[in-house]
Amino acid sequence: MPLPSDLPKIELHCHIEGAAPPALVRRLAGRHGIDVSGLFTKDGGYAWTDFSSFLAAYDRAAQVFRSAEDFADLAETYLFASAAEGVIYTEVFISPDHARRSGIPYADYLGGLAEGMARAEAGHGIIGRIIPLIERHFGPEAAHEAVRTALAHLHPRVVGFGMAGDERMFAVADFARAFALAHEAGLPLTCHAGEVCGAASVAEVIDALPVRRIGHGVRAIEDAALVRRLAEEGIVLEVCPGSNVALGVYPRLADHPLIRLRDAGVKVTLSSDDPPFFGTSIGREYAAIAETFALPPGEMLAFTQTALDAAFCDTATRARLQ
Ligand code: ADE
Ligand code: ZN
Repeated sequence: MPLPSDLPKIELHCHIEGAAPPALVRRLAGRHGIDVSGLFTKDGGYAWTDFSSFLAAYDRAAQVFRSAEDFADLAETYLFASAAEGVIYTEVFISPDHARRSGIPYADYLGGLAEGMARAEAGHGIIGRIIPLIERHFGPEAAHEAVRTALAHLHPRVVGFGMAGDERMFAVADFARAFALAHEAGLPLTCHAGEVCGAASVAEVIDALPVRRIGHGVRAIEDAALVRRLAEEGIVLEVCPGSNVALGVYPRLADHPLIRLRDAGVKVTLSSDDPPFFGTSIGREYAAIAETFALPPGEMLAFTQTALDAAFCDTATRARLQ
């Protein structure tokens, strides 16, 4: 049964710099005189071959955004494209570390993104919220600085806090202090794990941090006791199947554990992660999962409902979306 393209969708896991179309990155690089040689393939996509080179390409692409208006355009463009695919609410990850590295004041970075979201909401009805992230591979000291910056700028659209980056580096406990500051400030938490590393990486996060959600978390499937624990504790997975296949975590979508996790009682949602890097979009994620696992629209809508229940927004916003 083909999925209706207007099926309501909620996305909880997309990195804003990772949503930048290559053509936009090329254009901004030209405008700001930034060298992007080697960043693109001949076909105009991003050039990377594995998780490390993906993160390096991401870090380079992020560097071309230099002004509040650059970020306003990026957010508006992404939310507009999402709305056109049926997205009614989206939580976008932002990165104080990447703003610092680009030399843009965090207030301008955040303000630009919030402005772009406001334009998208006014024009297309889509609601956007923001989750600042620390980047694990930049280390605990940068993380501490980043959380302090994020907490000094609590815009009404900022609804949570989290960590992305290379889960092979450092221990989760090295970031516990940064997460504690965000938690004390009342922000709900999410953390990437169980993507390139196995189930132990997910367990390490939920042992060390009071997270409500895990970014990816799919390799929890390798440990049945951990799957039971995720189900019992109601920890929600922000699953990005296309990203997992593109990065070689699973050879084919049909091998992805999304449905096995769901059927084991784990709360799973669908997102696109870094859509142009992985040749995907939130609409394509929903469509590909529906087709690959032969799921009817009602079961696809359940992913949206789970995401709505797990969204970090306030209850009034959630009620508007019900
Ligand atoms: N940052 C952007 N995308 C990411 C991913 N898939 N894993 C870890 N960090 C990321
Ligand atoms: Zn991610």
